[in-house]
Amino acid sequence: MKESRNVRIFDTTLRDGEQAPGCSMNLQEKLEVAQALELLRVDVIEAGFAIASEGDFESVNEVAKLIKDAKVASLARATKGDIDRAWEAVKPAGNPMIHTFIATSPIHMQYKLKMKPEEVLERTYEMVRYAASLCPDVEFSAEDASRSDPEFLCRVFAKAIEGGAGTINIPDTVGYSTPFEMAEIVRYVRENTPGAENVIISVHCHNDLGMAVANSLASVKAGATQIECTMNGLGERAGNAALEEIVMSLKTRAGFFGADTGIDTRQIYRTSRLVSAVTGTKVQINKAVVGQNAFAHEAGIHQHGVMANPLTYEIMTPDEIGIPAKQMVLGKHSGRHAFDARLRQLGFVGDKDESDTLFIKFKELADRKKIVHDKDLEALIGIHRIEEDIPVIFKLDRFVVNTGNTITATASVRLERQGSLYEQVAAGEGPVYAMFTAVNKIAGVKPVLDDYSIQAVTEGQDAQGEVRVRIRAGSDIYKGRAISTDILQSSVQAYLNAVNQLVDDIENSKVNRG
Ligand code: KIV
Ligand code: ZN
Repeated sequence: MKESRNVRIFDTTLRDGEQAPGCSMNLQEKLEVAQALELLRVDVIEAGFAIASEGDFESVNEVAKLIKDAKVASLARATKGDIDRAWEAVKPAGNPMIHTFIATSPIHMQYKLKMKPEEVLERTYEMVRYAASLCPDVEFSAEDASRSDPEFLCRVFAKAIEGGAGTINIPDTVGYSTPFEMAEIVRYVRENTPGAENVIISVHCHNDLGMAVANSLASVKAGATQIECTMNGLGERAGNAALEEIVMSLKTRAGFFGADTGIDTRQIYRTSRLVSAVTGTKVQINKAVVGQNAFAHEAGIHQHGVMANPLTYEIMTPDEIGIPAKQMVLGKHSGRHAFDARLRQLGFVGDKDESDTLFIKFKELADRKKIVHDKDLEALIGIHRIEEDIPVIFKLDRFVVNTGNTITATASVRLERQGSLYEQVAAGEGPVYAMFTAVNKIAGVKPVLDDYSIQAVTEGQDAQGEVRVRIRAGSDIYKGRAISTDILQSSVQAYLNAVNQLVDDIENSKVNRG
Protein backbone atom coordinates (compact mmCIF):
# COMPACT_ATOMS: atom_id res chain seq x y z
CA MET A 1 0.00 0.00 0.00
CA LYS A 2 1.13 3.55 -0.81
CA GLU A 3 2.46 5.40 2.23
CA SER A 4 0.38 8.33 3.44
CA ARG A 5 2.22 11.55 4.25
CA ASN A 6 1.06 14.02 6.84
CA VAL A 7 -0.23 17.43 5.81
CA ARG A 8 -0.06 20.07 8.52
CA ILE A 9 -3.23 22.11 9.17
CA PHE A 10 -2.56 25.78 9.93
CA ASP A 11 -5.80 27.37 11.11
CA THR A 12 -6.20 31.11 10.64
CA THR A 13 -9.84 31.51 11.75
CA LEU A 14 -8.74 33.83 14.55
CA ARG A 15 -6.63 36.00 12.22
CA ASP A 16 -7.67 35.96 8.54
CA GLY A 17 -11.18 34.73 9.44
CA GLU A 18 -11.73 37.32 12.14
CA GLN A 19 -10.58 40.07 9.75
CA ALA A 20 -13.77 39.58 7.71
CA PRO A 21 -16.30 42.37 8.19
CA GLY A 22 -18.90 41.51 10.83
CA CYS A 23 -16.94 38.46 12.07
CA SER A 24 -15.10 40.03 14.97
CA MET A 25 -14.94 38.09 18.24
CA ASN A 26 -14.32 39.29 21.78
CA LEU A 27 -11.53 37.88 23.93
CA GLN A 28 -13.69 35.24 25.61
CA GLU A 29 -14.99 34.04 22.25
CA LYS A 30 -11.49 33.84 20.80
CA LEU A 31 -10.36 31.74 23.74
CA GLU A 32 -13.31 29.39 23.26
CA VAL A 33 -12.51 29.02 19.58
CA ALA A 34 -8.81 28.45 20.34
CA GLN A 35 -9.75 25.72 22.80
CA ALA A 36 -12.02 24.08 20.24
CA LEU A 37 -9.24 24.23 17.63
CA GLU A 38 -6.86 22.51 20.02
CA LEU A 39 -9.47 19.76 20.56
CA LEU A 40 -9.81 19.52 16.78
CA ARG A 41 -6.05 18.94 16.81
CA VAL A 42 -5.00 21.56 14.30
CA ASP A 43 -1.22 21.86 14.09
CA VAL A 44 -1.00 25.65 14.14
CA ILE A 45 -3.40 28.26 15.53
CA GLU A 46 -2.77 31.70 14.06
CA ALA A 47 -4.20 33.71 16.93
CA GLY A 48 -4.09 37.19 15.43
CA PHE A 49 -1.96 40.11 14.29
CA ALA A 50 -0.39 41.29 17.53
CA ILE A 51 0.65 44.77 16.37
CA ALA A 52 -2.79 45.63 14.95
CA SER A 53 -4.20 46.91 18.28
CA GLU A 54 -3.97 46.47 22.05
CA GLY A 55 -6.99 44.14 21.84
CA ASP A 56 -5.32 41.98 19.19
CA PHE A 57 -2.13 41.80 21.24
CA GLU A 58 -4.05 40.75 24.33
CA SER A 59 -5.98 38.04 22.54
CA VAL A 60 -2.87 36.53 20.90
CA ASN A 61 -1.16 36.65 24.27
CA GLU A 62 -4.07 35.01 26.12
CA VAL A 63 -4.38 32.28 23.48
CA ALA A 64 -0.63 31.69 23.79
CA LYS A 65 -1.00 31.24 27.57
CA LEU A 66 -3.92 28.85 27.13
CA ILE A 67 -2.78 26.51 24.35
CA LYS A 68 -0.46 23.67 25.25
CA ASP A 69 -0.03 21.43 22.20
CA ALA A 70 -0.65 23.33 18.98
CA LYS A 71 1.80 25.94 17.74
CA VAL A 72 0.51 29.47 18.37
CA ALA A 73 1.42 32.02 15.71
CA SER A 74 1.10 35.78 15.39
CA LEU A 75 1.26 37.55 12.06
CA ALA A 76 3.89 40.28 11.63
CA ARG A 77 4.91 42.43 8.68
CA ALA A 78 8.60 42.21 7.87
CA THR A 79 9.58 45.01 10.26
CA LYS A 80 11.33 44.88 13.61
CA GLY A 81 8.42 46.60 15.40
CA ASP A 82 5.89 44.03 14.18
CA ILE A 83 8.18 41.09 14.90
CA ASP A 84 8.98 42.32 18.43
CA ARG A 85 5.27 42.70 19.20
CA ALA A 86 4.47 39.27 17.73
CA TRP A 87 7.19 37.64 19.81
CA GLU A 88 6.07 39.41 22.97
CA ALA A 89 2.55 38.07 22.39
CA VAL A 90 3.33 34.43 21.50
CA LYS A 91 6.24 33.92 23.90
CA PRO A 92 4.20 32.17 26.63
CA ALA A 93 2.95 29.45 24.24
CA GLY A 94 4.18 25.87 24.54
CA ASN A 95 5.15 26.10 20.87
CA PRO A 96 5.39 29.75 19.78
CA MET A 97 5.69 30.79 16.15
CA ILE A 98 6.24 34.08 14.33
CA HIS A 99 4.62 34.39 10.91
CA THR A 100 6.23 37.22 8.98
CA PHE A 101 5.40 38.33 5.45
CA ILE A 102 6.24 40.72 2.65
CA ALA A 103 4.69 41.13 -0.78
CA THR A 104 6.55 39.81 -3.82
CA SER A 105 4.33 40.57 -6.83
CA PRO A 106 5.35 43.44 -9.12
CA ILE A 107 2.11 45.35 -8.44
CA HIS A 108 2.41 45.07 -4.64
CA MET A 109 6.12 45.89 -4.60
CA GLN A 110 5.68 48.96 -6.81
CA TYR A 111 2.44 50.46 -5.50
CA LYS A 112 2.07 49.20 -1.95
CA LEU A 113 5.59 48.72 -0.65
CA LYS A 114 7.30 51.17 -3.01
CA MET A 115 10.32 48.89 -2.86
CA LYS A 116 12.63 47.48 -5.51
CA PRO A 117 12.81 43.68 -5.81
CA GLU A 118 16.40 43.72 -4.50
CA GLU A 119 15.23 45.59 -1.39
CA VAL A 120 12.48 43.02 -0.81
CA LEU A 121 15.09 40.25 -1.01
CA GLU A 122 17.30 41.97 1.51
CA ARG A 123 14.41 42.80 3.86
CA THR A 124 13.24 39.17 3.75
CA TYR A 125 16.61 37.86 4.81
CA GLU A 126 17.14 40.49 7.52
CA MET A 127 13.68 40.18 9.08
CA VAL A 128 13.45 36.40 8.98
CA ARG A 129 16.88 36.26 10.56
CA TYR A 130 15.73 38.71 13.23
CA ALA A 131 12.55 36.72 13.90
CA ALA A 132 14.56 33.48 14.10
CA SER A 133 16.90 35.07 16.63
CA LEU A 134 13.87 35.49 18.94
CA CYS A 135 11.66 32.51 18.18
CA PRO A 136 12.63 28.93 17.30
CA ASP A 137 9.83 28.60 14.75
CA VAL A 138 9.41 31.13 11.92
CA GLU A 139 7.11 31.02 8.93
CA PHE A 140 7.68 33.33 5.99
CA SER A 141 4.90 34.26 3.52
CA ALA A 142 5.41 35.87 0.13
CA GLU A 143 2.20 37.89 -0.11
CA ASP A 144 0.52 37.73 -3.54
CA ALA A 145 2.88 34.86 -4.43
CA SER A 146 0.58 33.52 -7.14
CA ARG A 147 0.97 36.77 -9.11
CA SER A 148 4.72 36.97 -8.53
CA ASP A 149 7.47 36.11 -10.97
CA PRO A 150 8.23 32.43 -10.12
CA GLU A 151 11.96 32.86 -10.49
CA PHE A 152 11.97 35.88 -8.15
CA LEU A 153 9.68 34.00 -5.74
CA CYS A 154 12.24 31.22 -5.42
CA ARG A 155 15.01 33.75 -4.75
CA VAL A 156 12.91 35.31 -1.97
CA PHE A 157 12.12 31.92 -0.44
CA ALA A 158 15.81 30.96 -0.60
CA LYS A 159 16.62 34.12 1.37
CA ALA A 160 13.92 33.28 3.93
CA ILE A 161 15.31 29.76 4.37
CA GLU A 162 18.84 31.15 4.67
CA GLY A 163 17.53 33.53 7.36
CA GLY A 164 16.10 30.61 9.35
CA ALA A 165 12.47 30.12 8.21
CA GLY A 166 11.18 26.61 8.89
CA THR A 167 8.07 27.13 6.74
CA ILE A 168 7.68 28.96 3.45
CA ASN A 169 4.14 29.89 2.52
CA ILE A 170 2.72 30.53 -0.95
CA PRO A 171 -0.43 32.67 -0.64
CA ASP A 172 -2.94 33.14 -3.41
CA THR A 173 -3.79 36.42 -1.68
CA VAL A 174 -6.45 37.66 -4.08
CA GLY A 175 -7.93 34.26 -4.99
CA TYR A 176 -6.78 34.58 -8.60
CA SER A 177 -5.13 31.23 -9.18
CA THR A 178 -6.50 27.94 -10.51
CA PRO A 179 -5.72 24.39 -9.34
CA PHE A 180 -3.45 23.77 -12.35
CA GLU A 181 -1.46 26.94 -11.71
CA MET A 182 -1.19 26.44 -7.95
CA ALA A 183 0.12 22.92 -8.50
CA GLU A 184 2.65 24.32 -10.97
CA ILE A 185 3.83 27.04 -8.57
CA VAL A 186 4.27 24.56 -5.73
CA ARG A 187 6.22 22.20 -7.99
CA TYR A 188 8.37 25.05 -9.30
CA VAL A 189 9.15 26.35 -5.79
CA ARG A 190 10.01 22.84 -4.56
CA GLU A 191 12.36 22.18 -7.46
CA ASN A 192 13.99 25.60 -7.74
CA THR A 193 14.43 26.89 -4.20
CA PRO A 194 17.71 25.93 -2.56
CA GLY A 195 16.91 24.38 0.82
CA ALA A 196 13.21 23.78 0.05
CA GLU A 197 13.64 20.09 0.80
CA ASN A 198 14.35 20.93 4.45
CA VAL A 199 11.34 23.13 5.15
CA ILE A 200 7.56 22.88 5.25
CA ILE A 201 5.96 24.13 2.02
CA SER A 202 2.64 25.78 2.74
CA VAL A 203 -0.20 27.28 0.69
CA HIS A 204 -2.79 29.87 1.71
CA CYS A 205 -5.67 30.23 -0.74
CA HIS A 206 -8.46 32.77 -0.89
CA ASN A 207 -11.82 32.00 -2.40
CA ASP A 208 -12.59 34.94 -4.69
CA LEU A 209 -13.24 32.65 -7.66
CA GLY A 210 -14.57 29.79 -5.54
CA MET A 211 -11.40 27.71 -5.97
CA ALA A 212 -9.67 28.04 -2.59
CA VAL A 213 -10.23 24.42 -1.56
CA ALA A 214 -9.47 23.03 -5.03
CA ASN A 215 -6.31 25.14 -5.18
CA SER A 216 -5.20 23.89 -1.76
CA LEU A 217 -5.81 20.25 -2.67
CA ALA A 218 -4.00 20.58 -6.01
CA SER A 219 -1.08 22.03 -4.05
CA VAL A 220 -1.04 18.98 -1.76
CA LYS A 221 -0.94 16.74 -4.81
CA ALA A 222 2.05 18.77 -6.02
CA GLY A 223 3.90 18.34 -2.73
CA ALA A 224 2.70 21.05 -0.33
CA THR A 225 3.03 19.89 3.27
CA GLN A 226 0.91 22.52 5.01
CA ILE A 227 -2.45 24.09 4.23
CA GLU A 228 -3.67 27.34 5.73
CA CYS A 229 -7.42 27.48 6.13
CA THR A 230 -10.32 28.63 8.30
CA MET A 231 -13.35 26.98 9.87
CA ASN A 232 -16.44 27.36 7.67
CA GLY A 233 -14.22 29.10 5.09
CA LEU A 234 -14.53 32.35 7.03
CA GLY A 235 -12.36 35.19 5.81
CA GLU A 236 -12.15 38.51 4.03
CA ARG A 237 -14.22 38.96 0.85
CA ALA A 238 -15.21 35.45 -0.33
CA GLY A 239 -13.22 33.88 2.50
CA ASN A 240 -10.33 31.44 2.87
CA ALA A 241 -10.12 27.74 2.06
CA ALA A 242 -12.55 25.84 4.31
CA LEU A 243 -10.77 23.59 6.83
CA GLU A 244 -13.59 21.05 6.99
CA GLU A 245 -13.67 20.56 3.22
CA ILE A 246 -9.91 20.12 2.95
CA VAL A 247 -9.70 17.71 5.86
CA MET A 248 -12.63 15.58 4.71
CA SER A 249 -11.38 15.54 1.11
CA LEU A 250 -8.00 14.25 2.21
CA LYS A 251 -9.63 11.69 4.48
CA THR A 252 -12.34 10.52 2.10
CA ARG A 253 -9.96 10.40 -0.89
CA ALA A 254 -6.89 9.20 1.01
CA GLY A 255 -6.06 6.73 -1.76
CA PHE A 256 -5.96 9.48 -4.35
CA PHE A 257 -4.07 12.11 -2.36
CA GLY A 258 -1.78 9.76 -0.44
CA ALA A 259 -1.97 12.30 2.38
CA ASP A 260 -3.87 12.79 5.60
CA THR A 261 -4.03 15.21 8.51
CA GLY A 262 -3.91 14.79 12.27
CA ILE A 263 -7.38 16.31 12.66
CA ASP A 264 -9.92 14.64 14.95
CA THR A 265 -12.73 14.84 12.40
CA ARG A 266 -15.38 14.13 15.03
CA GLN A 267 -14.75 17.64 16.39
CA ILE A 268 -15.52 19.31 13.05
CA TYR A 269 -19.24 19.84 13.51
CA ARG A 270 -19.10 21.34 16.99
CA THR A 271 -16.22 23.64 16.02
CA SER A 272 -18.16 24.77 12.97
CA ARG A 273 -21.24 25.52 15.11
CA LEU A 274 -19.15 27.38 17.66
CA VAL A 275 -17.49 29.58 15.04
CA SER A 276 -20.85 30.25 13.45
CA ALA A 277 -22.40 31.21 16.81
CA VAL A 278 -19.63 33.49 18.03
CA THR A 279 -19.25 35.33 14.73
CA GLY A 280 -22.98 35.44 14.01
CA THR A 281 -22.21 34.08 10.52
CA LYS A 282 -24.71 31.51 9.36
CA VAL A 283 -23.38 28.44 7.56
CA GLN A 284 -24.90 28.23 4.10
CA ILE A 285 -27.58 25.53 4.03
CA ASN A 286 -25.96 23.43 1.26
CA LYS A 287 -22.37 24.03 2.39
CA ALA A 288 -20.16 20.97 1.88
CA VAL A 289 -19.51 18.89 5.03
CA VAL A 290 -21.12 21.18 7.65
CA GLY A 291 -24.20 22.64 5.91
CA GLN A 292 -27.61 21.68 7.22
CA ASN A 293 -28.37 19.73 4.04
CA ALA A 294 -24.96 18.08 3.68
CA PHE A 295 -26.35 14.72 4.82
CA ALA A 296 -30.06 15.20 4.09
CA HIS A 297 -31.37 12.78 1.48
CA GLU A 298 -34.65 14.11 0.14
CA ALA A 299 -35.16 12.08 -3.04
CA GLY A 300 -37.02 8.81 -2.46
CA ILE A 301 -34.61 6.76 -4.52
CA HIS A 302 -31.69 8.08 -2.44
CA GLN A 303 -33.49 7.46 0.84
CA HIS A 304 -34.17 3.91 -0.18
CA GLY A 305 -30.54 3.33 -1.11
CA VAL A 306 -29.19 4.93 2.08
CA MET A 307 -31.49 2.80 4.23
CA ALA A 308 -30.34 -0.34 2.46
CA ASN A 309 -26.67 0.65 2.74
CA PRO A 310 -25.51 4.19 3.63
CA LEU A 311 -22.53 3.92 1.28
CA THR A 312 -24.86 3.90 -1.78
CA TYR A 313 -25.13 7.68 -1.60
CA GLU A 314 -22.99 8.71 1.36
CA ILE A 315 -19.25 9.07 0.75
CA MET A 316 -18.69 9.97 4.40
CA THR A 317 -20.94 9.58 7.42
CA PRO A 318 -22.40 12.27 9.69
CA ASP A 319 -20.82 10.40 12.57
CA GLU A 320 -17.32 10.95 11.13
CA ILE A 321 -17.64 14.70 11.48
CA GLY A 322 -19.42 14.49 14.83
CA ILE A 323 -22.95 15.40 13.79
CA PRO A 324 -25.04 14.50 16.83
CA ALA A 325 -27.51 11.66 16.46
CA LYS A 326 -30.86 12.95 15.21
CA GLN A 327 -33.01 10.95 17.65
CA MET A 328 -32.37 13.22 20.59
CA VAL A 329 -35.08 15.88 20.68
CA LEU A 330 -35.43 18.23 23.62
CA GLY A 331 -38.75 19.29 25.10
CA LYS A 332 -40.21 20.54 28.34
CA HIS A 333 -39.56 17.24 30.11
CA SER A 334 -35.89 17.12 29.17
CA GLY A 335 -33.56 17.26 32.12
CA ARG A 336 -30.40 19.17 32.78
CA HIS A 337 -28.16 16.25 31.84
CA ALA A 338 -29.62 15.86 28.34
CA PHE A 339 -29.58 19.63 27.88
CA ASP A 340 -25.90 19.96 28.83
CA ALA A 341 -24.95 17.01 26.62
CA ARG A 342 -26.72 18.58 23.65
CA LEU A 343 -25.08 21.96 24.25
CA ARG A 344 -21.67 20.32 24.19
CA GLN A 345 -22.50 18.46 20.97
CA LEU A 346 -23.44 21.79 19.44
CA GLY A 347 -20.04 23.23 20.24
CA PHE A 348 -20.84 25.10 23.45
CA VAL A 349 -17.86 25.23 25.77
CA GLY A 350 -19.05 27.89 28.22
CA ASP A 351 -18.93 27.63 32.01
CA LYS A 352 -21.56 26.42 34.50
CA ASP A 353 -23.03 29.90 35.11
CA GLU A 354 -23.64 30.28 31.40
CA SER A 355 -25.28 26.90 31.02
CA ASP A 356 -27.44 27.65 34.11
CA THR A 357 -28.73 30.79 32.38
CA LEU A 358 -29.22 28.96 29.11
CA PHE A 359 -31.12 26.17 30.87
CA ILE A 360 -33.59 28.70 32.31
CA LYS A 361 -34.09 30.20 28.84
CA PHE A 362 -34.50 26.74 27.37
CA LYS A 363 -37.22 25.87 29.91
CA GLU A 364 -39.08 29.10 29.11
CA LEU A 365 -38.89 28.25 25.44
CA ALA A 366 -39.96 24.63 25.98
CA ASP A 367 -43.10 25.93 27.69
CA ARG A 368 -44.03 27.75 24.49
CA LYS A 369 -42.74 25.22 21.95
CA LYS A 370 -43.45 21.49 21.94
CA ILE A 371 -40.12 20.50 20.46
CA VAL A 372 -36.90 22.44 20.87
CA HIS A 373 -34.71 21.83 17.82
CA ASP A 374 -30.94 22.19 17.55
CA LYS A 375 -31.45 25.38 15.59
CA ASP A 376 -33.47 26.83 18.48
CA LEU A 377 -30.64 25.99 20.86
CA GLU A 378 -28.03 27.44 18.52
CA ALA A 379 -30.05 30.66 18.26
CA LEU A 380 -30.40 30.71 22.05
CA ILE A 381 -26.64 30.35 22.50
CA GLY A 382 -25.92 33.01 19.85
CA ILE A 383 -28.30 35.56 21.36
CA HIS A 384 -27.12 34.80 24.88
CA ARG A 385 -23.53 35.60 23.92
CA ILE A 386 -24.55 38.86 22.32
CA GLU A 387 -26.71 39.89 25.26
CA GLU A 388 -23.87 39.23 27.65
CA ASP A 389 -21.86 42.01 26.02
CA ILE A 390 -24.72 44.51 25.84
CA PRO A 391 -25.35 47.01 28.62
CA VAL A 392 -28.87 46.54 29.98
CA ILE A 393 -29.85 50.15 30.61
CA PHE A 394 -33.55 49.83 29.82
CA LYS A 395 -35.29 46.49 30.33
CA LEU A 396 -38.44 45.56 28.46
CA ASP A 397 -41.30 45.39 30.96
CA ARG A 398 -44.32 45.11 28.66
CA PHE A 399 -45.72 46.21 25.32
CA VAL A 400 -49.21 46.44 23.83
CA VAL A 401 -49.84 46.87 20.14
CA ASN A 402 -53.04 47.83 18.36
CA THR A 403 -53.01 47.33 14.63
CA GLY A 404 -55.19 46.39 11.64
CA ASN A 405 -55.65 47.09 7.96
CA THR A 406 -58.08 49.97 8.53
CA ILE A 407 -56.41 51.78 11.43
CA THR A 408 -53.08 53.47 12.15
CA ALA A 409 -50.92 51.15 14.25
CA THR A 410 -50.23 52.30 17.79
CA ALA A 411 -47.95 50.83 20.40
CA SER A 412 -47.53 51.36 24.08
CA VAL A 413 -44.14 50.27 25.46
CA ARG A 414 -43.10 50.19 29.10
CA LEU A 415 -39.41 49.96 30.04
CA GLU A 416 -37.76 49.63 33.39
CA ARG A 417 -34.63 51.44 34.45
CA GLN A 418 -33.12 51.09 37.92
CA GLY A 419 -36.47 50.19 39.47
CA SER A 420 -38.48 52.97 37.77
CA LEU A 421 -40.97 52.36 34.99
CA TYR A 422 -41.27 54.56 31.91
CA GLU A 423 -44.13 54.26 29.45
CA GLN A 424 -44.76 55.92 26.10
CA VAL A 425 -47.36 55.56 23.36
CA ALA A 426 -46.58 56.11 19.68
CA ALA A 427 -48.26 55.70 16.32
CA GLY A 428 -46.50 54.50 13.21
CA GLU A 429 -46.69 53.09 9.69
CA GLY A 430 -46.95 49.61 11.19
CA PRO A 431 -46.81 47.96 14.64
CA VAL A 432 -43.04 47.47 14.57
CA TYR A 433 -42.32 51.07 13.69
CA ALA A 434 -44.78 52.25 16.34
CA MET A 435 -42.95 50.20 19.00
CA PHE A 436 -39.55 51.51 17.92
CA THR A 437 -40.83 55.10 18.11
CA ALA A 438 -42.14 54.50 21.63
CA VAL A 439 -38.71 53.13 22.66
CA ASN A 440 -37.02 56.21 21.15
CA LYS A 441 -39.30 58.51 23.14
CA ILE A 442 -38.43 56.79 26.42
CA ALA A 443 -34.70 56.61 25.71
CA GLY A 444 -34.59 60.18 24.33
CA VAL A 445 -32.85 59.17 21.10
CA LYS A 446 -33.71 59.34 17.41
CA PRO A 447 -31.40 57.00 15.52
CA VAL A 448 -31.87 56.10 11.86
CA LEU A 449 -33.13 52.54 11.31
CA ASP A 450 -30.61 51.24 8.77
CA ASP A 451 -31.76 47.65 8.57
CA TYR A 452 -34.45 45.36 9.96
CA SER A 453 -34.76 41.68 9.07
CA ILE A 454 -36.70 38.74 10.38
CA GLN A 455 -36.13 35.06 9.79
CA ALA A 456 -37.81 31.93 11.09
CA VAL A 457 -35.33 29.82 13.10
CA THR A 458 -37.11 26.55 12.31
CA GLU A 459 -40.10 25.40 10.31
CA GLY A 460 -43.54 25.02 11.91
CA GLN A 461 -46.26 27.23 13.32
CA ASP A 462 -44.54 27.60 16.67
CA ALA A 463 -41.23 28.59 15.07
CA GLN A 464 -39.19 31.31 16.70
CA GLY A 465 -38.57 34.50 14.74
CA GLU A 466 -35.05 35.89 14.85
CA VAL A 467 -34.92 39.65 14.35
CA ARG A 468 -31.81 41.67 13.52
CA VAL A 469 -31.76 45.45 13.50
CA ARG A 470 -29.08 47.97 12.68
CA ILE A 471 -29.43 51.58 13.78
CA ARG A 472 -27.21 54.56 13.07
CA ALA A 473 -26.51 57.68 15.12
CA GLY A 474 -24.17 59.97 13.16
CA SER A 475 -21.45 57.65 11.92
CA ASP A 476 -21.90 55.13 14.74
CA ILE A 477 -23.64 51.84 14.03
CA TYR A 478 -25.34 49.66 16.68
CA LYS A 479 -26.68 46.18 16.10
CA GLY A 480 -29.35 44.28 17.99
CA ARG A 481 -30.57 40.71 17.72
CA ALA A 482 -33.30 38.79 19.55
CA ILE A 483 -35.47 35.70 19.19
CA SER A 484 -38.92 34.80 20.35
CA THR A 485 -41.92 32.79 19.22
CA ASP A 486 -43.64 36.22 19.17
CA ILE A 487 -42.10 38.28 16.36
CA LEU A 488 -43.26 41.59 17.85
CA GLN A 489 -41.46 40.70 21.05
CA SER A 490 -38.25 39.79 19.20
CA SER A 491 -38.56 43.02 17.19
CA VAL A 492 -38.83 45.32 20.18
CA GLN A 493 -36.16 43.40 22.13
CA ALA A 494 -33.68 43.50 19.21
CA TYR A 495 -34.29 47.23 18.83
CA LEU A 496 -33.88 47.79 22.56
CA ASN A 497 -30.56 45.89 22.52
CA ALA A 498 -29.27 48.31 19.88
CA VAL A 499 -30.70 51.40 21.63
CA ASN A 500 -29.16 50.37 24.97
CA GLN A 501 -25.71 50.42 23.36
CA LEU A 502 -26.38 53.86 21.90
CA VAL A 503 -27.61 55.21 25.24
CA ASP A 504 -24.57 53.72 26.97
CA ASP A 505 -22.26 55.51 24.53
CA ILE A 506 -24.16 58.78 24.95
CA GLU A 507 -23.99 58.57 28.72
CA ASN A 508 -20.29 57.80 28.56
CA SER A 509 -19.91 60.70 26.09
CA LYS A 510 -18.65 58.48 23.32
CA VAL A 511 -21.21 59.70 20.82
CA ASN A 512 -23.56 62.64 20.20
CA ARG A 513 -27.27 62.14 20.79
CA GLY A 514 -28.59 60.42 17.64
O1 KIV B 1 -3.72 36.36 2.06
C1 KIV B 1 -2.55 36.57 2.41
O2 KIV B 1 -1.64 36.81 1.62
C2 KIV B 1 -2.27 36.55 3.83
C3 KIV B 1 -0.84 36.55 4.21
C4 KIV B 1 -0.53 37.55 5.26
C5 KIV B 1 -0.38 35.18 4.55
O3 KIV B 1 -3.17 36.46 4.64
ZN1 ZN C 1 -5.02 35.66 3.64
